[in-house]
Amino acid sequence: PITAQVNNRDCLEVGGCDVTSLVQEFGSPLYILDETTLLTTCSQYNDALKRYYPGQSQVLYASKAWNCLAVCAIAKSVGLGIDVVSGGELYTALQAGVSPNKIYFHGNNKSIAELKLAIQSGCTIVVDNWLELQNLVAIADSSSSEPIKIMLRLTPGIECHTHEYIRTGHLDSKFGFDPNQIEQVFTFLSKNPALNCLGLHAHIGSQIFERQPHQDLAGVMVEWFDKATKYGLQLSELNVGGGLGIRYTESDDPPSIEEWVKGVCEAVVKACENQQIPLPKLLCEPGRSLIGTACVTAYTVGSTKVVPEIRTYVAVDGGMSDNPRPITYQSRYRAVIANKMSADATETVTIAGKHCESGDILIKDARLPKTEAGDILVVMGTGAYNYSMSSNYNRLPRPAAVLVSNGEANLILQRETNEDLIRHDRLPERLVNKQ
Ligand code: LLP
Repeated sequence: PITAQVNNRDCLEVGGCDVTSLVQEFGSPLYILDETTLLTTCSQYNDALKRYYPGQSQVLYASKAWNCLAVCAIAKSVGLGIDVVSGGELYTALQAGVSPNKIYFHGNNKSIAELKLAIQSGCTIVVDNWLELQNLVAIADSSSSEPIKIMLRLTPGIECHTHEYIRTGHLDSKFGFDPNQIEQVFTFLSKNPALNCLGLHAHIGSQIFERQPHQDLAGVMVEWFDKATKYGLQLSELNVGGGLGIRYTESDDPPSIEEWVKGVCEAVVKACENQQIPLPKLLCEPGRSLIGTACVTAYTVGSTKVVPEIRTYVAVDGGMSDNPRPITYQSRYRAVIANKMSADATETVTIAGKHCESGDILIKDARLPKTEAGDILVVMGTGAYNYSMSSNYNRLPRPAAVLVSNGEANLILQRETNEDLIRHDRLPERLVNKQ
């Protein structure tokens, strides 16, 4: 977080709050979300779009990175729209007061109930496939609603890896329409006025450090825009998705938000000039690069196990249930000891979680000062896809989250309790012990 600093007690401070005091007050593990960092990344996107794109634009927060009332409300407060991918995310965004005009509903297998909720709310549906188009027409036919606002999700055949990308004519992805089908889809839409197609969407991947793939994408999408006019469709919105990477460890070197946005804007403007079409409204939907660096997770150190000549395990009171990214994607993180900030890093240890699973390792070979039980270990950069992918594995209650700003901490997610864990359990009468 940009507000992270060391105070005169040699402790880590985030948002003006001493992390060790936060743990005393709210317990651990604890997600600590820095409002200043989040607001800063939001403005970096907003400002760069204003500076480099001469047409209309809108940033959407990809809330799959972290969806809860407070985060949606912060995004809304700085003018961002929200990308949602389920009825649950949609419900949360609506409850947070986000205007349906700024909500875009994604997903490759939306249920009829989800589609109806989306239509009823008035948000825009990013249509992924043929079945969904047919379902929407059927829903429209059975109710005399206004035309349903949709976008089309296309799979552009631009594949991204973290350090390389390859172009393929046909991308193996479960999402979106194949570009080979685009003319058929345009024909379908031109015959179905119940669907009001606003524009096109594509998302090519996540934690991307290169700028070229998104610039190529912008060019390809503008060509499709041009094609749509030949079918009488008036498309006005172009959404290039999210995907900009962040720095988890020293070896990560992503472009800045400004550089990334500038590249996309220039590519869209140039492609529109080439095709001689008016500038569409440009949308992008970052998740990780908005919230990833804004959060840290504080844990309490417990047991240590030394395996002579091999490694030392230092265990913390959370793990794969609050951060499943290391075990799922071999993701790398950085940690500090919040109560020993100026101590030299003299040890190389492996930070283990408390789950009954050998792979429950948060960081391999972390360089840290000598740790002991009771230390507060802080993992940095846990804002994206941590809380949102958390689970109750081993029946661990989910951690609390606090929003910190100017020395003030507000609870935004209450810590789950053991009662919460059995709230939806039901015990058949015959299994109740009557003795
Ligand atoms: N738009 C769409 C349609 C997406 O599918 C995604 C991410 C985004 C936007 C936001 O992408 P971002 O800016 O955050 O890279 N759980 C994985 C990441 C999965 C991303 C899925 N889609 C992880 O923890 O790395």
